[in-house]
Amino acid sequence: MKFDPEGFINEKISWLKKEIGNEIAFAATSGGVDSTVCAVLAHRAVGKRVIVGFLDDGLMREGEPDEVVGRLGRMGLNAKLYCVADPFFEALKGLTDPEEKRKAFRETFHRTLSHLAKEEGARFLVQGTIAADVVETKRGVKSQHNVLDQIGISPFREYGFRVLEPLVDLYKPEVREVGKRLGLPREVFQRRPFPGPALSVRVLGEVTPAKVSTVRKATKIVEEETADLKCFQAFAVLMNDMATGVEGGRRKFGEIVVVRAVDSKDAMTATVTRMPWERLEKIRNRILEDIPSVVKVLYDITPKPPSTIEYI
Ligand code: XMP
Repeated sequence: MKFDPEGFINEKISWLKKEIGNEIAFAATSGGVDSTVCAVLAHRAVGKRVIVGFLDDGLMREGEPDEVVGRLGRMGLNAKLYCVADPFFEALKGLTDPEEKRKAFRETFHRTLSHLAKEEGARFLVQGTIAADVVETKRGVKSQHNVLDQIGISPFREYGFRVLEPLVDLYKPEVREVGKRLGLPREVFQRRPFPGPALSVRVLGEVTPAKVSTVRKATKIVEEETADLKCFQAFAVLMNDMATGVEGGRRKFGEIVVVRAVDSKDAMTATVTRMPWERLEKIRNRILEDIPSVVKVLYDITPKPPSTIEYI
């Protein structure tokens, strides 16, 4: 049966109205299509009684916190920015195992939300979990930050709030349709996905402020140089290993950055974007120029499966 965005919107607005009643809700929003669609549905249901919170966890892209909160505010939402980087770096300190890092992020994210929601008097958390997040987490591929109930973690028992997930049965293309029908700006409903744990999943090994700063610079370059390309996601990853380089005839041991760009419909499978060679050279030149600690820039040519889109 063909998906009916209008019917879906009406159904979810009534459901959110009924669930939230006269209470206050908190919608944690990254500015991505899933969480923004969710926040707008909640806003249509209960108006300013939904606080649309952006958590600046220190892992976001350059300029992202102000840019996203500004846009949410211009959309008429009750948007607020919370600066909460310290607990995230503290929780990630010393961790190198991918799943341990993901779980540390998830735990800190929900503890922080719980604290903020309590301060704001909110008992409900409106969350943009979609079907792909649940499927991949339940299959054990990787623990996505926004999947709790479905794997036996009660948000109410653990964190003291009830989670409402209006998009949990949809995949990305349908969420985009809903976003379009809601009249969101094109830059929101067509936005490339960005993972909830942000740049922490794009630093292999221990996540430190210095490494996040390096991958943030590389990400900006890749995103700028691929802005006009039709692809599902394009990003940079910082490897944990170092490689030998040479500068001015002398040995230079430096960092390795991987550039990855993929085409996909719903993130469940992906093929590699056939990036024009000149574009890759430009990205390489800019990364080497702007980030002197890097001695190698690689392009990842692996589809999903057997790879996943992100690195951890
Ligand atoms: P993978 O790496 O599993 O990614 O092929 C599939 C899609 O999900 C995004 N991703 C996440 N999104 N929380 C999210 O909200 C997460 O923990 C998470 N991990 C991966 C990834 O960017 C891709 O679009």
